[in-house]
Amino acid sequence: MAGISWYQSNGKCSAQEQGMSVDQIPLYSLGDVQLRFLCPDDLDEVRALCQDWFPIEYPFYWYEEITSSTSRFYSLAAVYNQAIIGLIVAEIKPYASLNEEDTGILAKKFAERSDIAYILSLGVLKQYRRNGIASLLLDSLITHLTTSERRKVKAVFLHVLTTNSAAIKFYEHRKFRLHSFLPYYYSIKGRCKDGFMYVLYINGGHPPWTIYDYVKFMCGKVLSGGGFFPWILLNVNRAIQWIWNSKSNTQHEEN
Ligand SMILES: CC(C)(COP(=O)(O)OP(=O)(O)OC[C@H]1O[C@@H](n2cnc3c(N)ncnc32)[C@H](O)[C@@H]1OP(=O)(O)O)[C@@H](O)C(=O)NCCC(=O)NCCS
Repeated sequence: MAGISWYQSNGKCSAQEQGMSVDQIPLYSLGDVQLRFLCPDDLDEVRALCQDWFPIEYPFYWYEEITSSTSRFYSLAAVYNQAIIGLIVAEIKPYASLNEEDTGILAKKFAERSDIAYILSLGVLKQYRRNGIASLLLDSLITHLTTSERRKVKAVFLHVLTTNSAAIKFYEHRKFRLHSFLPYYYSIKGRCKDGFMYVLYINGGHPPWTIYDYVKFMCGKVLSGGGFFPWILLNVNRAIQWIWNSKSNTQHEEN
């Protein structure tokens, strides 16, 4: 294939030595890979790739939607030598619209007014894996989600088969954290398979606090010295004001 420089020719270690299969193509430079949004002409190519990568069958209309020029999805392709070698598909939705099994990602204070991004698909052509293509696609999505117009998006999440160790390692490497185990989440060729949900917090989003977080927070305040006492005073002051206000409201109602 034209334009590919092999590491071996530069005296670096071979694909096999790096633990790759011999069929893999180490890219010399990611600069030769272009990123562009999917378009209707990509439908057949994208469908063939997804059928190869994922054990889940997507309906035809799904491919029409992700390749549509007016798509609500963020559907980005990595292109090399005019062929799609990787793609990511994600969508932004209101946090309040999530299914029950996906709730509990964000702390309650975000529940009403936040959005969340969901990665529906991320895949790279087998020969081009471990070249940073998925990282490139994910970086582009995260850059898109962390612009000021999208600061309402407080987290990115996805589901993955518990047996998909490559994807799990990839997401953990990218600082996604395991949020939940979803028994029998997938139905693949009539058989139930378990899934995990992974989450990455962005734009100041965070999960509900646990006792451990409260203890850690208090310890942090104590260790940081001076800051702890103004914080205590502020909160005692707020508590007194709250009690005072509720007392005067009650008296007002009684009169
Ligand atoms: C998961 C997948 C998208 C990763 O794509 P990729 O382009 O190979 O990923 P990257 O090269 O950006 O990997 C970045 C890092 O993730 C980790 N990683 C990725 N694949 C890994 C693997 N197979 N084993 C161990 N670690 C892996 C490594 O830390 C890697 O950095 P390194 O290569 O410098 O060690 C790819 O394996 C794939 O397409 N799988 C099939 C489709 C799929 O399962 N998608 C996920 C559905 S949720």
